[in-house]
Amino acid sequence: MKTKMRLDKMLGNLGYGTRSVLKALVRKGAVTVNGARVKEPGMQIDPHADEVVLEGERIVYRDTLYVMLHKPAGFVSATEDNRDRTVLELLPEELRVFSPFPVGRLDKDTEGLLLLTNDGKLSHDLLSPRKHVPKTYLALVAGLVGSEDIATFATGVTLDDGYVTLPAALRVLSSPKIEADLAADGIAGNMRASSTFTMDEAIGRLDTFPALLTNRTSWQEAVAAGEPLSWIELTIAEGKYHQVKRMFEAVGKKVLYLRRTEMGPLPLDETLAPGQWRELAEDELERLRNYKKTEDRT
Ligand code: URA
Repeated sequence: MKTKMRLDKMLGNLGYGTRSVLKALVRKGAVTVNGARVKEPGMQIDPHADEVVLEGERIVYRDTLYVMLHKPAGFVSATEDNRDRTVLELLPEELRVFSPFPVGRLDKDTEGLLLLTNDGKLSHDLLSPRKHVPKTYLALVAGLVGSEDIATFATGVTLDDGYVTLPAALRVLSSPKIEADLAADGIAGNMRASSTFTMDEAIGRLDTFPALLTNRTSWQEAVAAGEPLSWIELTIAEGKYHQVKRMFEAVGKKVLYLRRTEMGPLPLDETLAPGQWRELAEDELERLRNYKKTEDRT
């Protein structure tokens, strides 16, 4: 593995300035390497082993970044876009210098857990269709979700393009129908959410950000027409385009609000409000890395 790099490149990678600014800084003697003042911006250093000090500040090198973002509605999961704001715009410049990208996509109107990293291998492993990394969502659905849907989702749903999904675990957390339904089927007790985010809060999000969330018309129409709302949690083991919305469409229901709460072993940190982010803790990163190893079903 290549361990050496140019001094000005190391500082540039960390966002300390453009190459030309850094060259000038080094030439005027602003940098020491292992205690010795250096004047050559192209000097080869080991960024992990050599002690680099810039204008009195000890520089700690790293080249990878792992961020958990609570994606808000209204932002697209892309690094650039001509029309919409991207999730990258929610990160400060000092993190954007690491060129992070989203690990997979959430729709523009979906909220919740989105990882951003510049680690292509980890991203590839988490997204690989062969790995079946499970993703859990909370959704507000127009219609009566009940035990037939639980059974259909458990065997696989045929989407609009003919694709049959892998078995998915649907838990109905609240539905006018579900209590009697579950009791009749003897499967009561499957109504525990892995997140503390509630149906009322989801409805509040629709009220607060109506312009950002799609299906506003259908939501208002549904409620005006007296159509019941269901609050569900769904775990899927793949990530087809608009998968959760299309799975409900396949059983004649409409997702009005969607939030991702888990990806593999990583739950959304619920202290993060939509739009907030934090870097992953060391143990979270370890769990992600180990998870892909133990869960590789190939
Ligand atoms: N399924 C969807 O329909 N949308 C998302 O954003 C994620 C999963």
